[in-house]
Amino acid sequence: MNDLIWFNGQVMKMADAHVGVEDRGFQFADGVYEVVRFYNGKPFTLREHMERLVRSAEGIKLSVPMPIDELADEITRFIPRTGEREGYVYLQLTRGVCERNHRFPRPAPPATLLFYVHKLPPALEPGEGEGLKLLAVKDERWKRCWIKCIGLIANVLAKNEATGTGYDEAVFLEDGIVSEGATSNIFAVRGQKLITHPVGTKVLPGITRLVVFQLADKLGIEIDERPLREDEVMRADELFITSTTRELAWVARWNDRYIGQGKCGPLTTKIHRAYRDRVRAETRGSGASSSPASHPRIVNVA
Ligand code: PDD
Repeated sequence: MNDLIWFNGQVMKMADAHVGVEDRGFQFADGVYEVVRFYNGKPFTLREHMERLVRSAEGIKLSVPMPIDELADEITRFIPRTGEREGYVYLQLTRGVCERNHRFPRPAPPATLLFYVHKLPPALEPGEGEGLKLLAVKDERWKRCWIKCIGLIANVLAKNEATGTGYDEAVFLEDGIVSEGATSNIFAVRGQKLITHPVGTKVLPGITRLVVFQLADKLGIEIDERPLREDEVMRADELFITSTTRELAWVARWNDRYIGQGKCGPLTTKIHRAYRDRVRAETRGSGASSSPASHPRIVNVA
């Protein structure tokens, strides 16, 4: 079942896969990763994730060691072999194993490329459930946050600062500007408009964020893509975060301040419903468990 891994081109048991001690991912965090949600055994927005993988790899002067169409096919074929219907694929690519040296190895060793799946439990319908509590934390990350790099210790520390004090997610704040969460992008709703920070040095180009942009366009909802001030966040009508594993998750609190009406706001619910419609449309198929009662349900996991 789910103890399988695709490891450098071979499908094997997780326990049989071994990464070398001198793997540059292990020693330098010299690698990139992707997290791809699958529903009904089918990956969602896989092409977008593969394209981001290529850009992230380029960002650390690495190339994906196989054509991304082939990699996407491997992932699509691998998921059913795990027996899981609802979950996510974790993919990691590193510069491979070689004698420890900061300089890039020449000739380049074979990259280490692997992926495996984790199951996700059922989640709530759009608009349901408790809102998240966000803690603003100092941004101590590097300035290439557009790269989905495995060097995540600043995010890990931030996340633990938040969860260790009863919050659900940390959000980075610098000079009064709110950029993104430790594991998510963030959107504020003011009036009928969405506001979110542009991607780049401080913000990962989230795939869920991208889908929200596409849906907002279809729904005629305007998005203001600009630095988001903390006072706007605190006075927002609605606030939500986005990520592959959580889709859209509404926010009830920013530090000790309550946001909105104490329930999921109408615009967040509307966009989240449209998101689910797109998920259903793109992941239905034969053998699907897509009766109305068993629509994918997602929880906050990250
Ligand atoms: N995290 N920003 C950061 C820093 C993230 O780590 C993530 C996702 C996002 C949202 O990106 P996307 O919509 O493509 O998932 C934004 C993943 C889920 C993780 O590291 O587990």
